[in-house]
Amino acid sequence: MHSILLEMLECPVCHGALNWKIGERRGDRIEQAEVGCVACGARYSVREGIGLFLTPDLPRHDLWEQAEGQLARYLREHPEVEHQLMGAPLEALAPADQFFRALVLEERGEYAQARAAADLARPGLYTSEYLACYESQIDEVVERLGESDGPIVDLASGRGDLVEALARRLRQPIVMTDFSPRVLRRDRRWLEFLGLYDQISLLAFDARRTPFKDGAVKRLTTNLGLPNIEQPDRLLSELRRIVSGTFLAVSHFFPEDDEANAAAIRQAGLSTLLYRRSALAQFSAAGWQVEVANVCTGSARPTPAGVILEGAGIDALPVAEMVLEWCLLVAC
Ligand SMILES: C[S@@+](CC[C@H](N)C(=O)[O-])C[C@H]1O[C@@H](n2cnc3c(N)ncnc32)[C@H](O)[C@@H]1O
Repeated sequence: MHSILLEMLECPVCHGALNWKIGERRGDRIEQAEVGCVACGARYSVREGIGLFLTPDLPRHDLWEQAEGQLARYLREHPEVEHQLMGAPLEALAPADQFFRALVLEERGEYAQARAAADLARPGLYTSEYLACYESQIDEVVERLGESDGPIVDLASGRGDLVEALARRLRQPIVMTDFSPRVLRRDRRWLEFLGLYDQISLLAFDARRTPFKDGAVKRLTTNLGLPNIEQPDRLLSELRRIVSGTFLAVSHFFPEDDEANAAAIRQAGLSTLLYRRSALAQFSAAGWQVEVANVCTGSARPTPAGVILEGAGIDALPVAEMVLEWCLLVAC
């Protein structure tokens, strides 16, 4: 993480000041540090350049830890499946298997091949309308951030599709964040391979309890991060506390009368932020003013399952074909 972040951070538990014992620096980056709250004594750290500000009290359902661990274990236990997945010509694989091959290649550090496999998989996994709406939202974020200066903080960054687009097209420093240290370690290696790491800091924290001081964030972004956050009751109030400028949230909404998907959404506990009306009500209740910008609609269908990795799925939603409404929520 870059040293410029020091003045923006505080204890995510009690909002006390932090005491930094920096063990290793590289240029303007902190690689290793022990961090303590002077008020409540909570301990945090920086490891491999990643600031770790997770608190022990919030439940963490880290899908990256589970999914990648499971895939590696399954392939170790079934070498014949691994042979088929990694040995068959890429073009001959089903789109989901192409995607899983990309994950394995990434784990092995074969990034160029991983990118080729993921790129080939995408049009087979998503409808062309889905991909066009998605690209349009990313372009909208880039355009709106073009004029700004100072760090951009991205929430629930995951594998970093938005962060990569921002880093390629803007010059501002970017803070990539997620509650999964595993995905952030993967992101670091990947960004180094792409030559984009110089501009980017990595921070692990839960979006519902962030380590930022009041109003410290001038530009907050997220690309489909909000609907992935379970039990988001206090999420939007916490984000209201830290943002003194604009929050740009790439979002998509399900139709309210679509029963087939509604049951799955309810079961996953994601109803609040996947429907336009309730999402906007939550924003207002937390003190935000929201504009719904760049609306576009496009059909979406369940991502097809693997064939070699028989039945293995990728996205949990939608479970039935439907029309998604995409937009950029511009909140301040
Ligand atoms: C699918 S990603 C969103 C796509 C990503 N923003 C991009 O541009 O590629 C959703 C991410 O949310 C993260 N996440 C889920 N709950 C979270 C929470 N409470 N705090 C922070 N991150 C969370 C997950 O680990 C996952 O990486």
